[in-house]
Amino acid sequence: MKRSTVLRMHPVEHAGSLDWKLRRLLYPPVKILSPWISDGMTVADFGCGPGFFARTAAELVGPNGTVIAVDVQEGMLAMLRERITGKPIEQRIRPHRCKPDHLGISDQLDLVYSFYVMHEVPDRERVIHELCDLIKPGGTIFLMDFVVTMSRPAFEELEQIVVQEGFRAIARPRHFLSRAVVCLKD
Ligand SMILES: C[S@@+](CC[C@H](N)C(=O)[O-])C[C@H]1O[C@@H](n2cnc3c(N)ncnc32)[C@H](O)[C@@H]1O
Repeated sequence: MKRSTVLRMHPVEHAGSLDWKLRRLLYPPVKILSPWISDGMTVADFGCGPGFFARTAAELVGPNGTVIAVDVQEGMLAMLRERITGKPIEQRIRPHRCKPDHLGISDQLDLVYSFYVMHEVPDRERVIHELCDLIKPGGTIFLMDFVVTMSRPAFEELEQIVVQEGFRAIARPRHFLSRAVVCLKD
């Protein structure tokens, strides 16, 4: 385990802190996601939590798109289901419970994003490899983590893994107290 990162998983009992007004101001989901999502895309939100970003992604992919909302904790997915039940986006979101180091999906993806998750993942190399494999040529992966939970060298290591998978960095979005990179699969 690296000392530069934190491995404790976000407790389901504290999931409310991932989905409240101030966070919406600091991390506006539409502003963060809209440059990377268009109509009809198949998108995976890896480590979706209660769906703070996944619900917006589902709006952005439109009625012909799909968001696969992946999380290792059933409690997070239950909260997500609660928030989307009966809404039009319910049809576009597919909650999926994964294992800590194995996704278990086989969809071809236009975009994978993973926000504030990788510092909790024990075998990041394996997970990133699996995520990158699912992305179509021309697709993208967008990783973002907190400056406090992931050091710059640890984040650069993540980017290196993605580059080794045949991607190249095309943007480094700037968001509050975060490190972020978007990489394209050529
Ligand atoms: C800090 S929360 C962030 C949730 C969401 N991405 C957001 O920004 O609102 C981290 C999430 O990652 C999930 N997680 C942690 N390790 C994981 C793993 N190995 N595979 C999938 N999800 C994981 C946790 O269950 C939790 O929901």
